[in-house]
Amino acid sequence: MKKILVFGSSNTDMVIQAEHLPLPGETILGGKFTMHAGGKGANQAVAAARMGGNVTFIAKVGNDLFGQQARQQLINEGITTDYIITDPDHPSGVALITVDNKGENSIVVASGSNATLSPADVSGAIELINSDTIVLIQLEIPIPTVEYIIEQSNSRGAQVILNPAPANSLHKEIYNYLHLLTPNETELSLLTNTIVTDIPSAEQAAQILHKRGVKNIIVTMGASGAFWYSGTDSQLIPAPKVDAIDTTGAGDIFNGVLCVFLAEGYSLPEAIHYACQASAISVTRMGAQSSAPYREELLPGKTSE
Ligand code: RIB
Ligand code: NA
Repeated sequence: MKKILVFGSSNTDMVIQAEHLPLPGETILGGKFTMHAGGKGANQAVAAARMGGNVTFIAKVGNDLFGQQARQQLINEGITTDYIITDPDHPSGVALITVDNKGENSIVVASGSNATLSPADVSGAIELINSDTIVLIQLEIPIPTVEYIIEQSNSRGAQVILNPAPANSLHKEIYNYLHLLTPNETELSLLTNTIVTDIPSAEQAAQILHKRGVKNIIVTMGASGAFWYSGTDSQLIPAPKVDAIDTTGAGDIFNGVLCVFLAEGYSLPEAIHYACQASAISVTRMGAQSSAPYREELLPGKTSE
């Protein structure tokens, strides 16, 4: 099995459940308040670890209680945390999340130390990258750092999976180095300046990214599943029907799990199938990272290879 290096953000999620998401200027009385470890990077690392992946997480936390708790949580999940550094000057990342009664959410992130993760900060971890590595990354850390990691991964022969969340523009060279790009419909619209609403419009937008050099585009489409486009192949892999209560982090679970099955040598459609199953389970539970399923739930009695 290939090693998985996840580079990205670590946050503490403060979640309030409410009937509906507040409108501008509106105060609403919500329901329960919970606090979980979060951040797209950490969520993806945990999802991969629970699925049996060999995971190292590279991030920057603050010199505070949230940072200490986040690090401990990752250790508890069996993730290698040796390359998580502490920022003496900025607080750990925090996300304020509202979840409505349909399971939809709105999120505001105070990036804190995540926004200071520099190429120099990740240089030690870069040394770990070789052709036996899969690199997974998102866009909650500075773009120059993301671009540096992707360039280095490519020149060291590793496959790179970029989850472009939240959407942001990248230097055009970067697309050539991506084995996989995994936007949702909104991110795909923003990246291609098109309007993505269904499979045909997703396919057209995916073609644009493929022309820019991305080998495979996987569009996560919520309850409909995920659409894969590689230039020669295109396929919709359906998701199981479930009753969603909290969709926060569903994309993170998808990416983390996808990585594990690719690391084990499964085909892309197979890996996407398992990733859809895992994210469907996660939306039936509250929380993002905390809702990531374990391998046993997906493949009873079958350990990782
Ligand atoms: O994708 C969900 C995540 O986005 C949350 O855990 C929050 O921390 C934000 O980073
Ligand atoms: Na969830």
